[in-house]
Amino acid sequence: MKKNLLLFFVSICFFQAMSQQKQNAPLNKFIDARFGLFIHWDMSSVAGTEISWSRKATKPLDITGDPAGYVEDTAYDHLYEKFNPQNFHAATWVKLAKDAGMKYIVFTAKHHGGFAMWDTKLTDYSIMHTTFARDVVKELADECHKAGLMFGLYYSQRDWHQPDYGIGDNKKYLEYMNGQLTELLTRYGKIDILWWDSYGHGDLEQFWQIDETYRLVKKLQPDILMNNRMAVLAEYNKQPAAYLGDWDTPEQRLGEFQNNRPWESCMSLVKVPDGGGWSYRPDGSVRGYEECIRTLVSCATGDGNLLLDAGPDATGVIPTDQTSRLLEMGQWLKKYGASIYQTRGGPFHNGEWGGSTFNGKKIYLHIATWNNNELVLPALKSKIVRVTNFTDPANTVAFTQNSTSVVIKLAGPKQDKIDTIVLLELSDDASKEFNSHVPLEVIPVK
Ligand code: GLC
Repeated sequence: MKKNLLLFFVSICFFQAMSQQKQNAPLNKFIDARFGLFIHWDMSSVAGTEISWSRKATKPLDITGDPAGYVEDTAYDHLYEKFNPQNFHAATWVKLAKDAGMKYIVFTAKHHGGFAMWDTKLTDYSIMHTTFARDVVKELADECHKAGLMFGLYYSQRDWHQPDYGIGDNKKYLEYMNGQLTELLTRYGKIDILWWDSYGHGDLEQFWQIDETYRLVKKLQPDILMNNRMAVLAEYNKQPAAYLGDWDTPEQRLGEFQNNRPWESCMSLVKVPDGGGWSYRPDGSVRGYEECIRTLVSCATGDGNLLLDAGPDATGVIPTDQTSRLLEMGQWLKKYGASIYQTRGGPFHNGEWGGSTFNGKKIYLHIATWNNNELVLPALKSKIVRVTNFTDPANTVAFTQNSTSVVIKLAGPKQDKIDTIVLLELSDDASKEFNSHVPLEVIPVK
């Protein structure tokens, strides 16, 4: 009885969450997109050290600093004087994102270091006070709007440069922060995403007056989506439900399968030993093609998005090793995009074998590991009416379906080294295959 009641309660919660999701068109659009471009860029690209974290402060606040490439704050805060990215063309970045198969861009309007990449009236520490003197946020917003990409702004609540930050009751800084947010949310047309990146210290209610900021944002852009880092202090787990945002943000790692709340893995394209690599880091190396494709596939099969980050250099160019990887991903998506965009993760739980996505009556199996050229899956309720080798439609895939399992067979040489995609067409909706929204477990073969 108790168990039934619990099941009932869980189902109610789930249905509520699902119907809320249905009503939330912007969020559905975000989920359907599956793949976005994160861009970390400011005057730190002049030094080529990690954005904000490489600023070694004389008076440390909530800064721990990045051991890779310290720049004394006295020098760091003057890097902007040398920042003149003459080769920056917003249209080139937006085209790159599109060609990479990405559907949205999130750009660092202000990172923890406090430098503003737009024409802010509230500080001189901005792009307008460089030789370049162009409003980068505006140019990017305009190009995204033209190209039909969703546009998001990363805004760091922490600010290691602004003298009022965290001083006294923090009121002066809050005025500054809310003022900057007002500029960003009123001047550049529709802002689809506000990507918060957590507070440093203090409490949410008094010190940060979180409700005031939250209401301000919603008033200025009622349809805006927000990630889950608005109400983050030191602890990720103790966030008041009201400010949980629209999705979770596993960082530099893949998210677990999760289909009762959206999520987005944010990962840097460039790897560096210190875990950064968000901004331009000539000392880093670009993740391999296989890793990138598998990362994207793991996100989609786990029912999440991937926000893959590029770090443009000080001239305003995204280096060719990054662009060529992104373009390769775009080529892959051109062929196999139907198995990623607008899909949801499941009905099989992803794992070492690979994973699956679905859309209506279609299930796309993304197979990474075979066992003797076979994959054994748990039984499906629906009848499989057709099986296609989606990676290589000229070749067939053998399968058997009975009441205990579905078995897929494909000869070794016909398998794709990175991801063999097999399309199963069912007699009924794939969403009905879940057991109360719990995905079907694929038993690993030892
Ligand atoms: C971290 C870092 C930051 C980066 C962000 C992206 O919180 O502080 O440098 O922008 O993650 O997820």
